[in-house]
Amino acid sequence: GTSSSSSSTGYDLVVVANRLPVDFAVDDDGNVDWKRSPGGLVTALEPVMREADGAWVGWSGAPDLAHEPFEADGMLLVPVTLSADEIERYYEGFSNDTLWPLYHDVIAPPTYHRQWWDAYRRVNQRFAEAAAAQAARGAVVWVHDYQLQLVPRMLRELRPDLRIGFFDHIPFPPVELFQQLPWRKNIVEGLLGADLIGFQRGGDASNFVRAVRRLTDHPTRGSVVSMGSDDPNPGRRVRAAAFPISIDTQHFDELARKPEIQARAKEIRADLGDPEVVMLGVDRLDYTKGIRHRIKAYGELLQDGRIEAASTTLIQVASPSRENVGAYQELREHVEVLVGRVNGEYGELGHSAIHYLHHSYPPDEMAALYLAADVMLVTSLRDGMNLVAKEYIAARSDLGGVLVLSEFTGAADQLAPGPILVNPHDIDGMKNKIVEAAQMGAKEKRRRMRNLRRKVMGDDVAKWSESFLGVLKAVPARDSYV
Ligand code: G6P
Repeated sequence: GTSSSSSSTGYDLVVVANRLPVDFAVDDDGNVDWKRSPGGLVTALEPVMREADGAWVGWSGAPDLAHEPFEADGMLLVPVTLSADEIERYYEGFSNDTLWPLYHDVIAPPTYHRQWWDAYRRVNQRFAEAAAAQAARGAVVWVHDYQLQLVPRMLRELRPDLRIGFFDHIPFPPVELFQQLPWRKNIVEGLLGADLIGFQRGGDASNFVRAVRRLTDHPTRGSVVSMGSDDPNPGRRVRAAAFPISIDTQHFDELARKPEIQARAKEIRADLGDPEVVMLGVDRLDYTKGIRHRIKAYGELLQDGRIEAASTTLIQVASPSRENVGAYQELREHVEVLVGRVNGEYGELGHSAIHYLHHSYPPDEMAALYLAADVMLVTSLRDGMNLVAKEYIAARSDLGGVLVLSEFTGAADQLAPGPILVNPHDIDGMKNKIVEAAQMGAKEKRRRMRNLRRKVMGDDVAKWSESFLGVLKAVPARDSYV
């Protein structure tokens, strides 16, 4: 149908995510303007949204910004307003200073604040109501990520006619860690409002099912949970399963084949003084990414004389992230002191040991950086998937380049044995693997990259969303229950 007909009957597919796929800007006259933000999720869902008559419910990214729903790129964008206080408690607090560290193996200590929890509940209710207001009868609603884990249950209370899916983009922790959370049962019940709960890895799905068994009385059979008679849809079944996410592989492949991008890659290497080996790290500046471990290993290799700053360079792109959260501020201090120390010690005039860039770059520049890098270092301490690893592979149709990949990523589950796997906690082991990658012969590189591309190129993000939505749509429409 068209959007005008939808306004009376609602949308057939509603996506609910913390962020809208656009960035807002308020100009000097107070006018609100927006431009598309190039996230992976938008790319995945845009074609499905166009086809299905879709709406996307999300936060604008700015405080107190109230804006009417508007049409963009063939879908309806529905902004949810958050006050400055809610941003502090729901987004920076509960989402990113409680759940994020708890779900990533408590690499940083999670903070438990009752006021943050209250705000999390309140904001999740607002998202649920906004979604309920847009969804057509029997529509499919797809809720995304850890910021919105209560939405499935809240939405089902409001609209038992809907088919509700949830996808967790980050790890789901072992129950021994999850049970620290004072509101662990509310979270599990919140998620169980969905018909289908998707995870990155099989291990995340089984962690979730173990949490259901330990914390609730719902009977489970394999990864299927049976809901009781007090559910809005009594006797309903919930399925948990792995749906590993991917990227728009073709887009990265095509970008990296463009002559101007290849020229830019050469230019990057020339600007660095044409080193023999260029290594690259690309991360949000986040303590889960193992940036400090990576730089420690790199610094020791320079110290040991196993690599020389004159012939080897590390580019570390660290894009700014969650800058109001204390743990991120501390991480930035640590990383910048560490980079400064390594550069001061081992750099030479005209040869910096590490090129540290606290910026984010558009996909064109990323593709050029991937092409310029002989060795890609992904050393996360814990990572739901890690899409940088997949982008690097998609960009290397030349079959050059080596991927060094942490065992603690979802990507490692999918891609092994093609990458050089590392345990980032084992600094000596990681140093050896980095040297192995730097010295790898062209033939072995091609063999590995060919394998990796075989796995990644056929498995793009469109397939991911199709397979998730395929399973979700196979859930019988609720009218047939009554
Ligand atoms: C991770 C999360 C996403 C989040 C993104 C950026 O990938 O899974 O939900 O949007 O980080 O973080 P931010 O806090 O800036 O949205």
